Amino acid sequence: MSAAAVKVVKRKAKGFRAEVGMILGSGMGGFADQIHDAVAIPYKDLPGFEVSGVAGHAGRLVLGYVGETPVAVLQGRIHYYEHGNPTGMRVPIETLRLLGCERLIVTNAAGSLKPAVKPGGLMLIRDHVNFIQQSPLLGLSGNGRFVDMVDAYDPEMRAHLRKVAAKMKIKLEEGVYAWLAGPQFETPAEIGMLRKMGIDAVGMSTVPDVILARYFGMKALAVSAITNMGAGMSHESLSHEHTMAQMETASRKLTQLLLAYLVQL
Ligand code: HPA
Repeated sequence: MSAAAVKVVKRKAKGFRAEVGMILGSGMGGFADQIHDAVAIPYKDLPGFEVSGVAGHAGRLVLGYVGETPVAVLQGRIHYYEHGNPTGMRVPIETLRLLGCERLIVTNAAGSLKPAVKPGGLMLIRDHVNFIQQSPLLGLSGNGRFVDMVDAYDPEMRAHLRKVAAKMKIKLEEGVYAWLAGPQFETPAEIGMLRKMGIDAVGMSTVPDVILARYFGMKALAVSAITNMGAGMSHESLSHEHTMAQMETASRKLTQLLLAYLVQL
């Protein structure tokens, strides 16, 4: 199916070859407006691309340039909790690879478990815990599925992003992200357990995307936009509306940071 999707892309954006792929999570869709000479293709025209039913996910593949860097951006993603299938992003991510992307940048909204990292802040993911132990590689055959996950979040890409952030005076903490299935938020007891385990942020995406990126031989980088403290750590009550409202500050910062990163590649 990825080959069929690539065929559609080649027809709509003749001769285009991407270097960097991106997945824009909740509230980050506006990043795509910053891409110049853009060609947007709705997921419904791309075989194997599933449309997310979550508010804030447009469902388009946007091809174009940030500075001189050619990018292929997935504006919206399907989540495990939408159908209980961890393989939902396999075709879109393989398509990015086939379009030339050697790197993948993933963004998400997440809850912070670190008192020092507050809503509106950013956390660069250093490593993850696949807490629900689901894999997007289920059902594949061959030795390639036994993916090495050491340094899955590419140390060079992280160092470069930290440098860009420091230059821009954007605070960028680093930490460990845990994937929980959702769609319900965690209980305070679950957050208490995760904190004891050394988890810094929690969310409902990204981990399967990064496993797929590594499977397809791409370097990966992921940043969480912190929308709330983990359940029970503050008095705010959690909802998708709350997440989206808090994303405004964080996503503005994250958009500026990633634009600068891509321009300087
Ligand atoms: N938990 C899980 N996913 C999230 C959260 C959270 O607290 N905030 C945003 N996405």
